[in-house]
Amino acid sequence: MASRTGLRAGVLWRGRGYGDGENREVGFQGDANFSSNVTWSLSPPVPAANYGIDAPKLVQRFAVRGGLLVVFAAVLYIVNRRTSPGTALALALACGGIGLGFLATAGIMLWSSRVGKLKIRDEILNGITWRGDEAVLDLGCGRGLLLIGAAKRLKTGRATGVDTWRADVLSGNSSEAAMQNAKAEGAADRIRLETSDIRKLPFGANTFDVAVSSLAIHNIPARAERAKALAEIVRVLKPSGRVAIFDLMYPGEYAKTLGELGLSDVKLSGYKFLWCLPGRIVTARKP
Ligand SMILES: C[S@@+](CC[C@H](N)C(=O)[O-])C[C@H]1O[C@@H](n2cnc3c(N)ncnc32)[C@H](O)[C@@H]1O
Repeated sequence: MASRTGLRAGVLWRGRGYGDGENREVGFQGDANFSSNVTWSLSPPVPAANYGIDAPKLVQRFAVRGGLLVVFAAVLYIVNRRTSPGTALALALACGGIGLGFLATAGIMLWSSRVGKLKIRDEILNGITWRGDEAVLDLGCGRGLLLIGAAKRLKTGRATGVDTWRADVLSGNSSEAAMQNAKAEGAADRIRLETSDIRKLPFGANTFDVAVSSLAIHNIPARAERAKALAEIVRVLKPSGRVAIFDLMYPGEYAKTLGELGLSDVKLSGYKFLWCLPGRIVTARKP
């Protein structure tokens, strides 16, 4: 790029985000009579991955209610502080306290979606020994949190995400958002997306080496229907295939059902808190 007498300046956009791992040079390039040897290198304008906000309507409701209550408490105090200062202060503190509680809950929910969930994703994936050639299935992949995390650990393997893309449980939920995130993480060439209900998977028996799922199965209200999703996992796993499921609700039920379905080494992790709720990772192996 650089010569002794002059500078050949270029803008190097790295391959990250194109999904093929290739470096590409774009933009201008040319010689100039500069006296220093400098190579400029810039990253491409690929948006960072965004895995969405869980239960977005609920977070919004808590934030709005909290804000309104705090404002109401302040107005209550200001209007009544001269006539009955003691009562005004007590009411304002009670109202404002509840409002701050709502705001804190919204903040914890946002933190859980943005930070806590990513830590748990790494714990789930670090608990699996990877060869790099696995066929991986993520049930209820949403915007690709576990799917892309798993794909990044693969060399020749591929990760498949299955979802019905419900917008009420995850903000901006769509296959396009998952693919965009995979591009941002440089893993687009290792993922595949399928629109399907996890109770009836569009795959043959013995297809996957690893099945993972996070915060998805509890969205199925009836126990018998959740058991169908678990039975599908067992069906599509290859012999010796491994499963890791994180959920805030029913992890004990999943462990029991997977055992009844014939899986071995069924284990429950310790509690992991998200949104102030205790969740657990269930792991098991198909004999
Ligand atoms: C809270 S989001 C979690 C997404 C992702 N696993 C994560 O941890 O970020 C739950 C996901 O499960 C999906 N889901 C819920 N019920 C489903 C079903 N019966 N079949 C397929 N996907 C489902 C939703 O569409 C949503 O994407």
